[in-house]
Amino acid sequence: MNTPKVLQIGALSERFNRTLAERYDVTALWQQADPQAFLRERGADFELLASSARFGCSAEQLACLPNLRAICSFGVGYDPYPLELLRERGIAISTTPEVLNDCVADLALGLMIDTARQLAACDRFVREGLWLSGSYPLTRKVSGKKLGIVGFGRIGQAIARRAEGFAMPVRYHKRQQDPSSPYAYEADLLELARWADFLVLACPGGAATHHLINAQVLAALGAQGILVNVARGSVVDQSALVTALLNGTLGGAGLDVFEGEPKVPQALFALPNVVLLPHVGSGTVETRLQMEELVFANLQAFIDKGELLTPL
Ligand code: 8YV
Repeated sequence: MNTPKVLQIGALSERFNRTLAERYDVTALWQQADPQAFLRERGADFELLASSARFGCSAEQLACLPNLRAICSFGVGYDPYPLELLRERGIAISTTPEVLNDCVADLALGLMIDTARQLAACDRFVREGLWLSGSYPLTRKVSGKKLGIVGFGRIGQAIARRAEGFAMPVRYHKRQQDPSSPYAYEADLLELARWADFLVLACPGGAATHHLINAQVLAALGAQGILVNVARGSVVDQSALVTALLNGTLGGAGLDVFEGEPKVPQALFALPNVVLLPHVGSGTVETRLQMEELVFANLQAFIDKGELLTPL
């Protein structure tokens, strides 16, 4: 492949944008006055696309890219890509697996502890001077509690390994049992929710998992149960979640992702048993750097050998 043109859908870090532009013949789609008109006119120039789990690439955009051969995406999520269409057209796609497992799993444990022990609310209590007038109410223990994990890929398994340090019995739910896993499989999501003290979501987003966590599952998790979501907002029926939290039929929620983010339901702002994070699971300097490098490595591998390093 000689000097292929790369289309970049949306801005990533300043370092990523600069390095990409230094190494390749890049066009930044988001900098075009009318991105869709630009694509209609010049889309045929591009064989490679750089995007992310946030920006993806729509079917409408793909229709304007007749010569596209590969997409290198930043992040592990692939829900904003029309995968069937990519398969039909033989367009290869890579994500950035493995390098973010630790940070997302760390954050899941952080959210479990923060939600149960109400660390964020305790911090607000101190800052607001309320400690001067009395002690903070008692919260809930984490160690030894039962942990249900929904989605048991690389991140789900990293969460399970960390939970061993907290002596937590672990069961997982996914479409198919993993025979090599030492953890107990629960085929019935409702059963898992009934059993668990903490239900942590680490599954992919997209149509297959849309509103998997509905009012029934939340009721099964119950008034002492805690939901943690480091997956995608679409996995949870958010209005059912808000209702359950406001009614006290769910014990608490630690959320890094939301339906319609960055908008977050204001009704949750005042609840001490709810922790709200701005989608920062992989957001550390170290991990983001590794994710960026993996995007570059995939682009270069495709240019050199016509093969992606970490294809989906
Ligand atoms: C990133 C993510 O924040 O990997 C994913 O799927 O959701 C996160 O790591 C996101 O991809 C940024 O584009």
